[in-house]
Amino acid sequence: MNILLLGSGGREHALAWKIEQSPLCKKLYIAPGNAGTQLCGTNAELPVNDFDEVVSFLIEKQIDMLVVGPEEPLVNGIADTIGQNPATSHVKIIGPSAAGAMLEGSKQFAKEFMQRHNIPTAAYKSFTAESYEEGVDFLETLKPPYVLKADGLAAGKGVAIVQSLDGAIDVLQGMLKGKAFGKASEKVVVEEFLEGTEVSVFVATDGKNWVLLPEAKDYKRIGEGDTGPNTGGMGAVSPVAFADAEFMEKVKTRIVQPTIDGLLKDNISYKGFIFLGLMNVNGDPYVIEYNVRMGDPETEAVLPRISSDWVQLMQCIADGNLQDYSLEVCPEFAVTVMLVSGGYPGSYEKGHVITGLDQIDGSHVFYAGAAEKGEKVVSSGGRVVAVTSLHTSLEEARRTSMENAEKIKFHQVNFRKDIGLDLQR
Ligand code: AMP
Ligand code: GLY
Repeated sequence: MNILLLGSGGREHALAWKIEQSPLCKKLYIAPGNAGTQLCGTNAELPVNDFDEVVSFLIEKQIDMLVVGPEEPLVNGIADTIGQNPATSHVKIIGPSAAGAMLEGSKQFAKEFMQRHNIPTAAYKSFTAESYEEGVDFLETLKPPYVLKADGLAAGKGVAIVQSLDGAIDVLQGMLKGKAFGKASEKVVVEEFLEGTEVSVFVATDGKNWVLLPEAKDYKRIGEGDTGPNTGGMGAVSPVAFADAEFMEKVKTRIVQPTIDGLLKDNISYKGFIFLGLMNVNGDPYVIEYNVRMGDPETEAVLPRISSDWVQLMQCIADGNLQDYSLEVCPEFAVTVMLVSGGYPGSYEKGHVITGLDQIDGSHVFYAGAAEKGEKVVSSGGRVVAVTSLHTSLEEARRTSMENAEKIKFHQVNFRKDIGLDLQR
């Protein structure tokens, strides 16, 4: 099969690395890709949101399978456009229709979906500029901390958790009236704060059958001990001890099955991955958010643990016979540490030479914001490189990732040294 993978982050390097290992993959293109994906296939300069260009590329390169890494093209309807075009309708698309992508594209849609299908989530109400005063009244009925979410896609920045009522009212005003996130915050979901521990759970589905992939913990804050602003993710660990068999059984029966049944009932076609951001509240799972793609950096921890063929998994997703796929998972721990640019998640510099990549021993390195420049690799984003190690002991996997992370150098490099520390016994 000829495969086109869209995206350019660490998630896409991990996907490209895994896809390239499959005997089912003949030729792999990544668009736009990064310095890491280029090691696994051929990068193509293709704007992922220009669907006419994607269609032309699919035809020209005789692509059989399109794998969509990030959410934006899905929310913009790439699966529908490719599927409805007679010249590309044969292409197997990994990623949901625009209707399915609304689970991530609109927080209110996701909330209504969960309510309709009895899927546990925080209580909420949503507001627009017209109902701003009602929003203030609603906030006054809640206890702190207050959770406010821009309805639409806001590159992971649309959620505010505020301690004071005044602060919450300010945020509501900024989002609705000040249009803090443009169109994305024309509607705001205000919801109950859930106290607990978070875990990311990944589901592969053909729209009817589903397979649970290994879960992971994401470290979202920039600072050690979970302090400072939120980032795209500073590291990940898989598996997660508190997601034990009893908890995962509840996830399957209360969340995964009702989600798939709900999609079927609502006539929403969904072939791809569902990322459940869950909160474990005293042993009971609640959905914090749905994402319609794999997580980043979770993918960099999850994929190295999967020993079965990933392209075959995707083929089963597209062909609707996921019941025939047998997932094999390696029981070892994976610890992923993300090396980021100084200043991230605020402003940071790009273009700094990355050294030490050839010194790595016993870890996988997945490039994120890293680009080729002549013979060198330079930083090109906030999250630059992910280092993943596997071991039967979490402590050992952690140690290897930290040792290798220390060897990778670029100007003002920063990484969290406490990834996985809280999960060690
Ligand atoms: P999201 O972008 O929806 O993943 O939200 C960002 C982060 O905010 C989540 O990962 C949680 O840590 C936190 N969060 C979101 N919603 C809630 C909630 N209802 N209760 C507690 N924390 C939340
Ligand atoms: N790691 C969180 C995300 O991919 O959205």
